[in-house]
Amino acid sequence: MKSFYITTAIDYVNGSPHLGHAYEKVLTDVIARFRRQMGDCVHFLTGVDEHGQKVQQSAKKKGIAPQQFADEVSAEFRALLPKLNISNDDFIRTTEERHKKVVRQVLQQLFDKGEIYKAEYKGFYSTRQEQFLQEKDRLPDGKWPEIFGEVTEIVESNYFFKLKQYQDWLVEFLTKNEDFIFPRYRQKQVLEFLKEPLNDLCISRPRERLEWGISLPFDDGYVTYVWFDALLNYYSAVADKPGVWPAAYHVIGKDILLPPHAVYWPIMLKAAGIPLPGGIIAHGWWMTAGAKMSKSTGNALNPLDLVTEFGADAFRYFLIREMNVGQDSDFTREQFLVRYNSELANNFGNLVNRTLNMTNRFAAGIVPAAEVVEDAERELHTLWEATRAEVLPLCEGFQFHAALEKTMFFITATNAYIEKRAPWKLGKSAEAHDLALLRTSIATMAEALRLGNALLTAVMPDAVAKINAVLGYTPGATWSEELVWGARITGSKVAESLVLFPRPAPPEKPPVAPKK
Ligand code: MSP
Repeated sequence: MKSFYITTAIDYVNGSPHLGHAYEKVLTDVIARFRRQMGDCVHFLTGVDEHGQKVQQSAKKKGIAPQQFADEVSAEFRALLPKLNISNDDFIRTTEERHKKVVRQVLQQLFDKGEIYKAEYKGFYSTRQEQFLQEKDRLPDGKWPEIFGEVTEIVESNYFFKLKQYQDWLVEFLTKNEDFIFPRYRQKQVLEFLKEPLNDLCISRPRERLEWGISLPFDDGYVTYVWFDALLNYYSAVADKPGVWPAAYHVIGKDILLPPHAVYWPIMLKAAGIPLPGGIIAHGWWMTAGAKMSKSTGNALNPLDLVTEFGADAFRYFLIREMNVGQDSDFTREQFLVRYNSELANNFGNLVNRTLNMTNRFAAGIVPAAEVVEDAERELHTLWEATRAEVLPLCEGFQFHAALEKTMFFITATNAYIEKRAPWKLGKSAEAHDLALLRTSIATMAEALRLGNALLTAVMPDAVAKINAVLGYTPGATWSEELVWGARITGSKVAESLVLFPRPAPPEKPPVAPKK
């Protein structure tokens, strides 16, 4: 079995999870489940980023210790995972000993190799915000914004990682591996960025300014600052699991691609002699009315509200169907309802109900065998072959929105096939051919439903399992044989009914006047 290790970014624990965080978990979960269907041995990691100034400050405000604060918020992030039906194998917290140990080992190794040095850093410092400022933080008139309070120029000694000396190597690596970053145009942006000279990376903060971090193994007066700590989680989580590293992919948002994941991370690994991951998938943002959804702007949606109202499957379906991985998408409830009603309830749910209903009404609940193959059946078979042939490469290339579109097209065609055959009419006939067609139509819709359903396994695992259960069908663990049109459920006893996507409360819109 091919090993396939996949990770999400680890979330900061200074606020509650929102839809953007949920999306990243769902997207990664869909990739993980898809690879499992393809027969890979998947290891899926997610987790939380617990150190740093913001957590230290938020804890102080609440009058509790940073660890207690991190414990509370981390628990909230963790609790979201089962609610979204995320199939992660591991959950890492950067305050865990297994992580801290590896961070210290890597730092020590790089220090011993001469890749880390101490130097003086001069800059403008805001005591109120406890941070160094950059030129871009100034107002147009050159003054510092009010929120920074008094700003003074200070000199501070810190540790630096020799990033600069790896710049040519990174450019060469990315030029040779043009699919390292998905989507490809992002890789081009990284190469553009690398046309400017890199600076070495400051990796520490003096303990008196930041206490909440991992102390440097070679100087106790300092703690590791942000990225050197956070990025190493991908490696520390599996350092004691042979055969898992390197990761196949890191799934992250586009805001943390440049420079952390596209520049710091490959160089850190190269310098430490650790193999590089297979690639990085940079997804876009969920927006509200054109602005990035985030805790700081206060426009963030709580994913749990939608899950409670519509169920995890519908929520997952919407996120994956709506977002073209890499691009941004606006979240609106109206659009959610449109997809829910037209694609899930009216199209997919309808096929499930018709299949159960017809099988019970005309075949005593037992899926019959197909007896005749005419144009209508041939057309649906051909469409299935085309759908399967298109959907798998689309999933392999992370084009899940298009894969779902094709799958739904097949479901729509199956509903159209039922309309065409009209079993309710055939059932009234006494002609032998009509009755053979009736049995064939039931066999065909049931097999088409089994197949279309199989293609939805990674996105709507619960609904898929429920449908298989009502069809009396136990699927194989992978897709090696599942996706072949056959007679896999002939003779199967189906259930009476299944309510999958109940109608939500009607939207608050004035009723449209009926046409005269
Ligand atoms: N802790 C760092 C990541 C360290 S990875 C070694 C961080 N945390 S975060 O909580 O701010 O963001 C976590 C992930 O959520 C990031 O990949 C980020 O891009 C993603 N999202 C946050 N808001 C988002 C949207 N509005 N939409 C989609 N994803 C976005 O960055």
